[in-house]
Amino acid sequence: MAASRVLSTSLTSGSQPLVVRAEGVWLELEDGRRVIDATNTAAPLGHAHPEIVAAVRAAATSPAINEGVRWAGRDAAAEALLETALAGEDWAGAVRFFISAGEANDAALSLAQALSGRSALATRERAYHGGVGLSRDLTVQPQWHGGLAYRDRTLAPPRLADVRELPAPVGARIAGPPADPEADRTGLAAVAGELADVAAVLIDYSQGGIYHQPEYQDQLAALARDAEAIWIADETVTGLGRVGSWFQFQAGESRPDVVIMGKGLAAGGAPAGAAVLSRELLERMEDAGWQSYSSYRAHPIECAAIEAHVRVSARDGLWRRALDFDELLAREMQRLADAHPGISRIDGRGLHWTIELHGPSWRQWEGHDPDPLASQIAARVLDAGAMIATSGEQTSLFIAPPLIVEEGELMRVLEGLDHGLALADAEVQRVAG
Ligand SMILES: Cc1ncc(COP(=O)(O)O)c(C=O)c1O
Repeated sequence: MAASRVLSTSLTSGSQPLVVRAEGVWLELEDGRRVIDATNTAAPLGHAHPEIVAAVRAAATSPAINEGVRWAGRDAAAEALLETALAGEDWAGAVRFFISAGEANDAALSLAQALSGRSALATRERAYHGGVGLSRDLTVQPQWHGGLAYRDRTLAPPRLADVRELPAPVGARIAGPPADPEADRTGLAAVAGELADVAAVLIDYSQGGIYHQPEYQDQLAALARDAEAIWIADETVTGLGRVGSWFQFQAGESRPDVVIMGKGLAAGGAPAGAAVLSRELLERMEDAGWQSYSSYRAHPIECAAIEAHVRVSARDGLWRRALDFDELLAREMQRLADAHPGISRIDGRGLHWTIELHGPSWRQWEGHDPDPLASQIAARVLDAGAMIATSGEQTSLFIAPPLIVEEGELMRVLEGLDHGLALADAEVQRVAG
């Protein structure tokens, strides 16, 4: 393989397999191996789904227009999201399309700042909301600060906003500390005062391995409302079926002012992001124009892929597949936790799971480890036939196969994990002496 002239970043450095082709849940590597892709929240229908390919091909002849010019395909994508994905959610008023979820988060946060005249923003510990603008500010995982990570030090850019970091729920579903709703409740209540002057509270539902309970969302929503802050639900990972429902916020009683989507929104057919605004928020905006612009937002190819994705996902009942696999995965994750002393915590829902290993915690993360344990494990899982993801920390793995995955394929991923996790066990033994 010729040396790559793509700039090396923390994600692209190290020895990486070269992917040459993909179809469904399978990736084909340069050396001819076929492995299951369990890393991919951007391809919920699998790679190169025929209906997404057809939608993108058809849209390739569309005029190259920006969102300033009306386009029927854009209306159709908004209808699909509001009438199918968000069916029954009557509070939802209108959609604006973006190029990525990070961009959508940034725009929604700045909208909240403009409406409230406040600049402070809140999220919870271990959140990830994107790598641009205000979304990067609210990406509080220290390894994703948008700066430089050397082996022994980091350089982070200054923050744009005053960021309040709320306590994350403590419990995990499998292994690790058990759920403790009372501790979560008092933890949040104790920081209620910090929300008094925030423009928005932004929460996601999986990042940093935190899959919080509906009660946490409802309490946070109530605190946001009391503070007259806008509540934004970041469903970039969890939206459109991955955790066994169309959206994770639907597990709670409360309903957000804004829902953010991205990643798999266009089923991998195009870069995509979206913000759904509540009717109430639209009323607050009255006749205002939302003064923000980008050349490629709501591109016809993006919109065609989104519409096709929602149509196929609803027809094939993909959220139900994720729900059906939840029980199997919970059982198998428990089995892994029992078998591997190297595991410290596992949490997850539907077809999105995070396994944390013993070792330096995310809070102790410092600089760039050239060969983190999590990456070594991922390499071993790859040898066993599945690609899994790490989250840039030394000690965290996550599993997110396409929603079309079959049981046998899932079992292959789990067998690969079983094989790879032996490294974590050996590390625990080594540290113990
Ligand atoms: C919860 C969440 N929000 C936002 C983003 C940012 O998405 P994008 O990379 O499309 O900007 C991510 C990406 O991982 C995410 O997980």
